[in-house]
Amino acid sequence: MNIRIYFFIVSLIFLQACGHSKEGSDPRIEELIGKMTIEEKIGQMAQINGFGGQIPDELKESIKAGRIGSILNEVNVETLNEIQRIAIEESRLGIPLLIGRDVVHGFKTSFPIPLGLAATWNPQIVRKGSEIAAAEASSSGVNWTFAPMIDIARDSRWGRIAESFGEDPYLVSQMAIASTKGFQGEANTTFANGKIAACAKHFAGYGAAEGGRDYNTTLIPEGELRDVYLPPFKAAVDAGIMTFMTGFNDLNGVPASGNQFLFKKVLREEWKFDGMVVSDWASIHEMLAHGFAADEKDAAQKAINAGVDMEMASRCYFENLNQLVSSGAITEDLLDNAVRNILQLKFKLGLFENPYVPEEKQNIFGKEESFKAALKAAEQSVVLLKNENQILPLSKDINSVAVIGPMSHEKYEQGGTWNFDGDSLYAVTPLEGIKEILGDRKVKYVKGLKYSRDKSTRGFNKAIKAAQNSDAVILCLGEEAIISGEAHCRAHIDLPGSQAELVHEIAKLNKPVIMVVMAGRALCIVDEINKSDAILYAWHPGCMGGKAVANLIFGDAVPSGKLPITFPKSVGQIPMHYNHKPCGRPVDPSNWLSIDDIPVKTYQTSLGNTSHYLDDGYTPLFPFGFGLSYTTFEYSNLKVETPMLNANEDVKLSFTLKNTGDFKAEEVAQVYIRDMVGNVTRPVRELKAFKRVKLTPGQEKQISISIPASDLAFHNQSMEKVVEAGLFNVWVGGDSNASLEESFEIK
Ligand code: NOJ
Repeated sequence: MNIRIYFFIVSLIFLQACGHSKEGSDPRIEELIGKMTIEEKIGQMAQINGFGGQIPDELKESIKAGRIGSILNEVNVETLNEIQRIAIEESRLGIPLLIGRDVVHGFKTSFPIPLGLAATWNPQIVRKGSEIAAAEASSSGVNWTFAPMIDIARDSRWGRIAESFGEDPYLVSQMAIASTKGFQGEANTTFANGKIAACAKHFAGYGAAEGGRDYNTTLIPEGELRDVYLPPFKAAVDAGIMTFMTGFNDLNGVPASGNQFLFKKVLREEWKFDGMVVSDWASIHEMLAHGFAADEKDAAQKAINAGVDMEMASRCYFENLNQLVSSGAITEDLLDNAVRNILQLKFKLGLFENPYVPEEKQNIFGKEESFKAALKAAEQSVVLLKNENQILPLSKDINSVAVIGPMSHEKYEQGGTWNFDGDSLYAVTPLEGIKEILGDRKVKYVKGLKYSRDKSTRGFNKAIKAAQNSDAVILCLGEEAIISGEAHCRAHIDLPGSQAELVHEIAKLNKPVIMVVMAGRALCIVDEINKSDAILYAWHPGCMGGKAVANLIFGDAVPSGKLPITFPKSVGQIPMHYNHKPCGRPVDPSNWLSIDDIPVKTYQTSLGNTSHYLDDGYTPLFPFGFGLSYTTFEYSNLKVETPMLNANEDVKLSFTLKNTGDFKAEEVAQVYIRDMVGNVTRPVRELKAFKRVKLTPGQEKQISISIPASDLAFHNQSMEKVVEAGLFNVWVGGDSNASLEESFEIK
């Protein structure tokens, strides 16, 4: 090679490694970086909390001096316009600010919590919800949301399962893509265009917190990390997500905020992510408590070395980066890289051109179209878990119903976690929804308990009386918003307070009992299920939740939600997820012993010796993907059109889906695949495709599905991502127990 070309290439590689001007970087960014003092660079990397609509002098001075790059949790539009004005007109370099907020499931118009949104199995609904949230949030001056949260979550003790899309990598990935595209759009992601930057969080593994205790340790073998926990994040990167957030957890001993494997190797090197990374709230500082950093300086050094560009809330960067550079512990190029990522985001969002919120944007709230979207989302998110003797839908001619329970008429509570900005005034409760359909006269409302955790039984008599005098009882139970979400983990995931007793008392009356459960997690409600005739699991359904529930109860809508997580029977069954690994002694369904089968005074030592609990068996309460309808569906005629294919081809299959009942309805058809033999053990089933299908009574449709064989890849013992040759089974049906089966082979 010509020696000059050689030196040119070497110097390019060197510049790249040092972080000197990034290839293809916007010249405006390089010009700004060239002008910045080290203090101004460090300022860009600082994110501080807002002051509730105030701009104290200290804040003004900091913005003017270029000591702040971003503010979170400020939503007052006048304040934000003024803050941006100070940054642009009064700071030396006129750099606008990023304004972050947790816009998680709606802004003013609240949608179902993400776990509920996942239960729609409808990415379009998620996308639409994020579009509306982006339009509403941007009209308040927010230009960056800390969403979607795409942690795989499999433990309902963990409060944050509420803000996740559930247990399955494929379903969560689809929702990650939809939500990213909803917030950001696919092109022209500018603030002026009503779009906001999205943030994939929490990278990575946070959902695997030990014992479901928030902020806790996660231990995830690399293969499982790459096959289960990382795919939604990769999907978000491919969908163009602009930012990433670290997590509070330590992953295999290394806190996420100082984790070079995650951020340098996987995110930047392997996935080529060129957006911005923010820490979680004070998580750089928390590396001290983790025992991973000796002091704030050490924490700052570890975080910047891992590639965290901006520090949320704590001040490790702000107080220490300058000294770290001057002492030679880190190079200024590291700072430049971070600042480049931050400025790039500000330029991409068009904040330099349009940082302000124009007045006319303010009338975006309370739009009929937004409520319609929230209603559709809520209707599709509710999962019908039981419907004995087709008791639902109730006839509108019914003479009287008793609406009982602490969640019947609680506008705020149905918003669930991260409902910071949701306007409760918009909310329609189940009581209101039911009254709208039946009229006031036919509806008797008794709360029974003051709130979900109320342990008193004082209100029971009134509730029982109302139930006795009605033709049916609608019991609205669950968890208030405050007992799910961040840090709100539970060791007993049952109905809190004396709600179970209330169900028990009402069930004694032999009236038809319809239970509506609003909760941020899967609850273990075995007894309550046995005591009710029908169950609608509504999660925290957002502002239109009550209307949706009423529409479903009276047949103006037909349930179509499907569980995005496995429901365990008891806490002792956790972890329980459908896509578990096989074991050497799987249970034989026709031959296993339960505790009740064990003879008294047995001297036998072997009780079956397969993988199950003596008391809770081996099956969950409800499987992943489960959800009933008012109609019935029949799956038949499964054909694999590619019985033998190459790893670079598509698996093509088709089947017939027929509506065999009396209601026009939608079914979420699901396709599961198992790689029968692998270089490492493969899950017993994995969701690989799904389709929402609309069918009128008697109608049947031929459904064709095509799955790239590359989607069957996994990480082998050498951590290579491979599609292995061999036999694969495929099942099609309405939940993860689908029984219509075929197979194919990859050559
Ligand atoms: C901490 C949470 O873990 C994170 O998800 C959130 O975005 C930040 N706080 C900001 O509120």
